[in-house]
Amino acid sequence: MNTTSQFTSNFWNIYIAIILIASIIGLLWLGFSQDKVKVPVKDKDGETETMGHSWDGIEEYNNPLPRWWFYLYILTIVFSIGYLVVYPGFGDYKGYFGWTSAGQYEEEMAAAEKEYGALYAKYGAMSIEELAQNGDAMRSAKSMFDTYCIQCHGSDAGGSRGFPSLKDHDWLWGGDPADIHETIANGRVGVMAPWGPALGQERVKDVAHYVMSLSGRESADPERVKRGEALFHGGPANCFTCHGADGKGIKGLGPNLTDDIWLWGGSEKAIIDTITNGRNNQMPPWSNFLDKDKLHLMTAYVWSLSNKDGAPAPAADTAASSAPTASAPTASEPAASAPAAPAADQAEVVLENQDGNPFGIFYFATGKSDVAANADAVVAELISAGKAGKKLVVSGYTDSTGNAQANAELSKKRAEAVRAFLVAQGVSEENIELRKPEDTTAAQGNSAQGRRVEVKIEG
Ligand code: HEC
Ligand code: HEC
Repeated sequence: MNTTSQFTSNFWNIYIAIILIASIIGLLWLGFSQDKVKVPVKDKDGETETMGHSWDGIEEYNNPLPRWWFYLYILTIVFSIGYLVVYPGFGDYKGYFGWTSAGQYEEEMAAAEKEYGALYAKYGAMSIEELAQNGDAMRSAKSMFDTYCIQCHGSDAGGSRGFPSLKDHDWLWGGDPADIHETIANGRVGVMAPWGPALGQERVKDVAHYVMSLSGRESADPERVKRGEALFHGGPANCFTCHGADGKGIKGLGPNLTDDIWLWGGSEKAIIDTITNGRNNQMPPWSNFLDKDKLHLMTAYVWSLSNKDGAPAPAADTAASSAPTASAPTASEPAASAPAAPAADQAEVVLENQDGNPFGIFYFATGKSDVAANADAVVAELISAGKAGKKLVVSGYTDSTGNAQANAELSKKRAEAVRAFLVAQGVSEENIELRKPEDTTAAQGNSAQGRRVEVKIEG
């Protein structure tokens, strides 16, 4: 490789070459000069000669170097000369093989590209959903994740304080493949300004208590919550501009504060610390390092972590606080008129009323099609209407996670399970109609709201 010194003069090359030659000659001379002494050395009285000093009566003979040691010494010098002939080291002489460390790296990369390039290209041509289902692809992505990502996101991708979990369905920057790809390729900077100076300690505490109340925390002081609410929605703090008027976050501006999932900790102290001192966080960009096929594969891997088809959703990973309470609003809770979805991932049935017409909503656990045990009591009104000859329309929905086709099948299976349940309750099969809704995906992400079957009375 060229170094700048070669553009200016040859001085350093000659300098190094001279030092090398001088050192080798010097070392050879040292070895041979010490080799002159013959064994055993006798002084003129015929006694074995010593070096003339004594430590506690122990004396040292003036013996020559052992033969084996001397030859090893010469061998190392011969080796170093051989090395300088074969490898670079002698001035700018490139060595017999012309080896360079950069060349070796490039060769290895080229070999790896030859071996795996076709494979990554194949993965690059597959869809995110296909990749997420492909065991080999995900294994190879996992090992890439282990190399590049676990030091920050953890070996299980569960994250830690300041480093988001990548498998909790809670996204700072969006969980669609396109969002995830953008995050990995170009990185992200999450900045929350410090509000301590503008608000002062007391008002920071007020707004912190309001933030605590957003995720249903009972320990929030009602007086402070009231004052904090005003601060959150107005000057000088205007928290809502980034976190949304409902505190549910605005993609790319500020995270959801209602879901009890905390990047920086959900204790009163941690929240006050966040608001007082702000946060400054960075996800490094990878586009210079991972080519387009690898970025695609990595995107599929991250996406798969929270979109495992049919598998139970991993429990929400809260960095610091308690599990979501039943009263905590969920990220995907729809308009206020809609019923609250069950907080836990389990089957549940509720009876709702729309303009005087009762209709039943059957919620399901992730990936399951089991009807809740108390369903007959809850929807008794529907069952008697069905028995009386009214038509019951059954429509299944799913959440948007996982493979779309598998979801469609699952929602059909759930609708069939509800039909079987109604039949078992004595409703004639003729009075039940399975109807596929126009859009079977009723909610973004993994949400209990989405995993439901609705039963309506028609006619
Ligand atoms: C040096 C630490 C670091 C490394 C290494 C790192 N990340 Fe990140 N990552 C972060 C931080 C910090 C954030 C959160 C940024 C913020 O607060 O907005 C983040 C955010 C993300 C997000 C967005 C999460 C969300 O909720 O929207 C994804 C996806 C992600 N990283 C994937 C990866 C992948 C894949 C790799 C490996 C190729 C990786 N990260 C390597 C630090 C890192
Ligand atoms: C300019 C936009 C902006 C404003 C205004 C803003 N925030 Fe934030 N806030 C953010 C961002 C971005 C983050 C995430 C930082 C990160 O990625 O690490 C954040 C994080 C937080 C967190 C930590 C969330 C967690 O998961 O740990 C809390 C609490 C919070 N903000 C409260 C507030 C309050 C209270 C106010 C009003 C005083 C406020 N924010 C005003 C952008 C904003």
